[in-house]
Amino acid sequence: MIPVSRPSIGIEELNEIKKVFETGWLGLGSTVFEFENTLKEYLGRRHVIAVNTGTTALHIALDALGIGENDEVIVPSLTFCASIQVITALRAMPVFCEINQATLNIDIKDVKKKITSRTKAIMPVHYCGTSCDMDALLDIGKEKNIIIVEDAAHAFGSSYKGKKIGSFGDVTCFSFDPIKNITCGEGGAVVLENDEFAEKIRRKRILGIDKDTWHRYRNERSWFYEVTTQGYRYHMSNINAAIGIAQFKKLDLFIQRKKEIVQRYNDAFENIDGIKVLSWNLKETAPFTYIIRVLNNKREDLIEVLKEKGVGTGIHYIPNHLQPFFKHFATSLPVTEKLGEEILTLPLYYDMTDVQVSTVIEAVSSFFNRE
Ligand SMILES: Cc1ncc(COP(=O)(O)O)c(C=O)c1O
Repeated sequence: MIPVSRPSIGIEELNEIKKVFETGWLGLGSTVFEFENTLKEYLGRRHVIAVNTGTTALHIALDALGIGENDEVIVPSLTFCASIQVITALRAMPVFCEINQATLNIDIKDVKKKITSRTKAIMPVHYCGTSCDMDALLDIGKEKNIIIVEDAAHAFGSSYKGKKIGSFGDVTCFSFDPIKNITCGEGGAVVLENDEFAEKIRRKRILGIDKDTWHRYRNERSWFYEVTTQGYRYHMSNINAAIGIAQFKKLDLFIQRKKEIVQRYNDAFENIDGIKVLSWNLKETAPFTYIIRVLNNKREDLIEVLKEKGVGTGIHYIPNHLQPFFKHFATSLPVTEKLGEEILTLPLYYDMTDVQVSTVIEAVSSFFNRE
């Protein structure tokens, strides 16, 4: 079976982990600091705070920004449930908004309609790695005093108008889970410029402990500490950072290969009736997943046929306003609901061979050709 996704990991990652083992310091320490500095340099940003998942990056960012009970956060419904869980965890309200059909990214017109006096943040998701219209969102944010917290889980390595995602804007959150553009095994990062928020996030990621962080970066533990705020055990470990350091060195290779695969898929699928390919800007996008829209209620049949041919598929995602736990916040989102029934994720990962790519193309094409 060709899986939808898989990490590309090997001896380089093991060698970095070995170095951590040799220090005897597995938790938050100098390797995390090194990983953060690597990303700081890459993004040209003042603060990169590494945490243990993309979910906790989003949670801790919203928490440090003071988002809480009855505050509203505008977020697309078509995203991983993590984006919504972090909002409800703070007892804030997710306000679901529409997406546009070409990119599956947040619909700016609908965002504007959904702003109220309680809107404290907007959380765009850079779907499949394609950047949202950040100029429009940051303008709205400035005008209305609303913070833009980017869920950039899909978009490490992507750019917007020549600027790397994470190199500008208010707050950017990345995920380094096993299938992301680079992985730490599990991991995430909050990236921002503001010193005050960065300090809060740093403290919150390690149980609200104030004094200890700099000692830990030197793999030391000081005996004195103060707990000064609500915090969580969300920090990244040296082991996970070691994987990230090895992965980062391969980022350009990963992006280049995945772009080639996306281009082959696009060329093959663009002219098939019954499929719509998304709009890609491969100059700027580090592709995360490859999603097609399957029209005319054919998705279930296609999934079955692909399975028989050894091609794995996925659905990213089921709209959150249709999920039982979030139905309290549901609203009418016809575009999202239609897209939610059409989207299908095809295999895309660095180690996919040309033969495997051809197998996927052939399996999809023959399904529609026999119609
Ligand atoms: C859009 C989006 N947001 C947030 C997350 C959460 O990231 P993590 O899995 O690292 O917690 C993911 C992960 O799949 C995601 O796809």
